[in-house]
Amino acid sequence: MDGRECSPLSGPGGVMTRSHDSDAYERARAVEEQMTDDERLSLVTSVMGTNPMSPVRDERIPEGTPMSAGYTPGVQRLGVPPLLMSDASLGVTNPGYREGDTATALPAGICLGATFNTRLAYTSGAMLGREAASRGFNVQLAGGVNLAREVRNGRNFEYLSEDPLLSGLLAGASVKGIQDQKVISTVKHFSLNCNETNRHWLDARIEEQAHRESDLLAFQIAIERGRPGAVMTGYNKVNGAYAGGNHHLITEVLKGDWKYPGWVMSDWGATPSWEFALAGLDQESGVQMDRLMWKNEPFVTDLPAALADGRLPRERLSDMVRRILGSMFTTGLDTPDEPPTVDLNAHRDLVLDTARQGIVLLKNDGILPDGLNQAARIAVIGGFAQLGVVTGTGSSAVTPPGGFAAVMKIGGPGIMGTARNLYLLPSSPLAELKKALPDKRIDFDPGMNPAEAALLAEKADIAVVFAIRVEGEGFDLADLSLPWGQDTLIDAVSRANPNTIVVLQTGNPVAMPWLDQVRAIVHAWYPGQAGGQAVTDILTGAVNPSGRLPITFPHSLDQTPRPQLAGLGSDWGTATTIAYDEGAETGHRWYAAQGHEPLFAFGHGLSYTTFEHSELAVTGGDNLTATMTVTNTGSRAGADVVQLYLTAAPDGPRLRLLAFERVELEPGASQTIDLRADRRLLARFNTEDHAWNLAPGRYRMAIGRTAHDHTLTGEADLDGSVFSA
Ligand code: BGC
Repeated sequence: MDGRECSPLSGPGGVMTRSHDSDAYERARAVEEQMTDDERLSLVTSVMGTNPMSPVRDERIPEGTPMSAGYTPGVQRLGVPPLLMSDASLGVTNPGYREGDTATALPAGICLGATFNTRLAYTSGAMLGREAASRGFNVQLAGGVNLAREVRNGRNFEYLSEDPLLSGLLAGASVKGIQDQKVISTVKHFSLNCNETNRHWLDARIEEQAHRESDLLAFQIAIERGRPGAVMTGYNKVNGAYAGGNHHLITEVLKGDWKYPGWVMSDWGATPSWEFALAGLDQESGVQMDRLMWKNEPFVTDLPAALADGRLPRERLSDMVRRILGSMFTTGLDTPDEPPTVDLNAHRDLVLDTARQGIVLLKNDGILPDGLNQAARIAVIGGFAQLGVVTGTGSSAVTPPGGFAAVMKIGGPGIMGTARNLYLLPSSPLAELKKALPDKRIDFDPGMNPAEAALLAEKADIAVVFAIRVEGEGFDLADLSLPWGQDTLIDAVSRANPNTIVVLQTGNPVAMPWLDQVRAIVHAWYPGQAGGQAVTDILTGAVNPSGRLPITFPHSLDQTPRPQLAGLGSDWGTATTIAYDEGAETGHRWYAAQGHEPLFAFGHGLSYTTFEHSELAVTGGDNLTATMTVTNTGSRAGADVVQLYLTAAPDGPRLRLLAFERVELEPGASQTIDLRADRRLLARFNTEDHAWNLAPGRYRMAIGRTAHDHTLTGEADLDGSVFSA
């Protein structure tokens, strides 16, 4: 069952639950005590491998070391292995590093989010961990858990959802999957790194209570579930202080209230000062990026002097080192297994399965799943569908087995401009459709010119338009339109052919001025290296769609908390403040609080079968639990995602996702589901006493098909309680 309560986190000074862990932390202490200061200082930085941004080989990295985002030397005489860190959100990254290396290219994080499947998140993490270990990496910079607060955020595709419970549970499962392979996982970017625009100079402002009940809760759940060895801070400031030097966030919340035992690393190019160590930062990452950004490598150049003259207390340095060693020892980095042999075919099947479960059928007036099978002639239009599927751009990009189908340099201003590319993974939807429908006439038009595409569309029984958008690190979207005239293309094609289906590949919601003109819309996110096949399976009905939206699609930006995005378009280096005045009411919570009906709600996703929800029974007391029955009332096997929402607390209406469960059902089959809320989603955080206050009284809840479409309602009385952070 998903959404269970979590046990408290353990670690130094905290509640220790695993004897293996206490041994490991004891050992970390003993090893650290034997170190020289030079050895201690060598552990608290990482050096970036040779890549196009840092092209000269850094002599601190020994010959023969696999190049990637970070390298930290070990201390051989004490049995401390080096740290070899690789990026990770969508696979073991390689573009720019390790010429010729390839790895399984996963669907976007937000596609995993759309599966609502924690078991799959674990398996997917385990796959990442195996592939990392097979290449000699023992740290994955995975686990992006920032909430999709802003539908223009260029990096939402790397994250999971707009909801703290969904993001926290999926990230936690994925982290555990990675770490079970003896590879440390990192959750990032702590916290409120919710926009890319001028991210190095961005001040994210939020009330403490709201932060605890939203973005911080996502991190808290992910950390409790996954026990990641490392946490990476964001580029941005939070309430005026850089995340990497934010004493409140790192020392008071993460290490204090949550008793986090692991180490805190900066993002690459996010440590302007050695004093961040005083705020709680344990490791400066990719030091050459700091030199590029801030003309300094502060933990390399300034920390030794600060230690020598006492500005950096010796206990702080010991703590930094012990945290790193503790994570190494609890994860087993000091007793590595033989590098695993990777079964690339099995991994391909897994990413295919993830895409199949994460693709969301947004609209279907009945044309799917039989339309393509019944058509004699099909026009496939646009989106480079003859070549492959899109993946996001930035540090998460992965060269798939066999290489990219194409890479187009897009460019743009700022430090990330040179790395901004249209990447196409070689899983061509056109080729897959031809394979699946060998008897049909399938013609392709590149969609370059709407009038030309319309000429082909009008001759076909069905037109399928593939629409794409490049999104990625360093760039926010200026609006929700499709680039390169694709909205005009869809308009022209759908006027020429009344049976038009649109397949979207984006990492965020899309404005759909043509919504009423098309018969079906399939949202494929960035579907990974087997994406063309997964899309084809959904279009032909070989697979019944089951993805659910992990992010609300607005009618327009006017419905969102910030119709204007602060700083958008400003020059690189411009200080910008974003006030998250919506507070904890992010995503679907915001729409409910404002009374807005979105275009497509959080949790929405159609199926080729139908599900009925019945027999809701709710109990209260110290927590809220619900039992209900879901029945597949249609004629195909399929999966439903049962969602339990809080709709009102004693003090008034409040929407919160409390628990969810993905259920696979044969036609006619029923299953009884037990759901249990995480009490923090029923309570309010009290900043005075750093505790959650669950008010006594009557709570109302609903089972929903989406956050806004409820099938069953119930209520229960809860005892009041106060529990710790
Ligand atoms: C990204 C991180 C990434 C790091 C190392 C940064 O630009 O924000 O997510 O882990 O680079 O590549």
